[in-house]
Amino acid sequence: MAARITGVGKYLPQRVLSNADLERMVDTSDQWIVDRTGIRERRIADDGESTSSLGAEAGRMALETAGLDANDIDLVICATLSPDGMFPASASLIQDALGAKRAAAFDINAACTGYVAALATGTQFINAGVYKRVLVVGAEVTSRIIDWTDRGTCVLFGDGAGAVVLEQAERGGLQSIVMKSDGAGAKLLYARGPASARSLAETEGYCIVMDGREVFRFAVRAMEESSREAISQAGLKIEDVAYVVPHQANQRIMSAVAKNLGLPIERMVSNVEKYGNTSSASIPIALCEAWEDGRLQDGDNLVVVAFGGGLAWGAGVIEWTGLGQR
Ligand code: ACO
Repeated sequence: MAARITGVGKYLPQRVLSNADLERMVDTSDQWIVDRTGIRERRIADDGESTSSLGAEAGRMALETAGLDANDIDLVICATLSPDGMFPASASLIQDALGAKRAAAFDINAACTGYVAALATGTQFINAGVYKRVLVVGAEVTSRIIDWTDRGTCVLFGDGAGAVVLEQAERGGLQSIVMKSDGAGAKLLYARGPASARSLAETEGYCIVMDGREVFRFAVRAMEESSREAISQAGLKIEDVAYVVPHQANQRIMSAVAKNLGLPIERMVSNVEKYGNTSSASIPIALCEAWEDGRLQDGDNLVVVAFGGGLAWGAGVIEWTGLGQR
C-alpha cells in the first residue's frame, strides 16, 4: 500500500515586507541580506489572519487540486511552531474552517522539520490501513514570534502555508523516511519565554533565538547526510533524483547541499528569494510551486529534506505520480 500525493496547495499573505523595509527597521542592508541568504522579500500575515486561517486556505487548494470534498478527509495534521494558541490544535481550527466534519485533527511540532515529520505520520496512518485520505498542512505566522529588533533573525523569516492531500493508492508518495534529533543542540535555536499564552504575540519577550553560524554548519551537514540516507534507503542514486525540495532557510545552505550532493543547482527547488524561511510551510509551498510551473513529471523521484530547532532533521524520497483521482 502507498500514500500517494493527490493534491497540493499554498497560501501566502498579501502583505510584502521587502529588504528595503527592513533597512528602515534595523541596521541591515538589502545587499547583506541577499548576499548572505538570497532572500529579497517575505510575506507578513495581517492582524485578522492566523496560522489556522493560512493553513485552511492552503488546505482548500489542496482539496481542489485533488478533486476532493472536505468530507472525504479522515485526518488533518498541521505542522507548525507558531500555532494559534497552545491548544486547541491549529489542525482542529483548520478542520472546522474547511468543514472536514469526519476528520480527526492534531498538530506536530518538530520546528522547521515539522513537515517531514507530518508527511511521515500521515503516510503511516494510510499504510497501516487506518485512514484513506489525510490532509497534511504546514502553516506558520512566525512574524508574531520574531524579535523585530534582532537583525540576526528578523531578516530570515516569513509567514505562509502549504498543504498536500495523501490518499491510499498502489504506488506513489513516500518511499523512504529518515528522521533524526539531537536535543543537546536545543539552545542553538529555540523560542524564549513562557509557552502557555493564548496569543504568543502578547507575551513579552517570547521570540526566536538562534546561533546562526552553528545552525548553518549543522544544516549543511544534516541535510546532505539525511538526503543521502533517504535516497539509499529508497534503493536509488543521486542521479535518479529529479528534484530536491528542501526546507527554504537560506540560499547559501541550499547551494552548499547541492554542491556536496553533486546535484546540479537547477534540480534544487528554491523560492526563498520571495518568501524567506516559512518554517514548516516551506516544503509544501515549494512543492506546490514546482507543480504549478509544470516541472514535476509522473514517475519523478523527489527528495524532501529539512532541519531546524530541536535540533531535528530528516529527509524522505517521494515518488510523484501526478495529482487528482485515477
Ligand atoms: N544585516 C547586517 N549585518 C548582519 C545581519 C543583518 N541582518 N545579521 C548579522 N549581521 C552581522 C553580524 O553581526 C556579523 O558582524 P560582525 O562580524 O561584526 O560580528 C556579520 O554580519 C557576520 O555574521 P554571521 O552570523 O557570521 O553571518 P553569516 O554569514 O553566518 O550569516 C545567517 C548569518 C544568515 C543567520 C546564517 O548564519 C544562517 O543562515 N544560519 C542558519 C540560520 C537558519 O537557517 N535558521 C533557521 C533554522 S529553521 C528553524 O527551525 C526555525
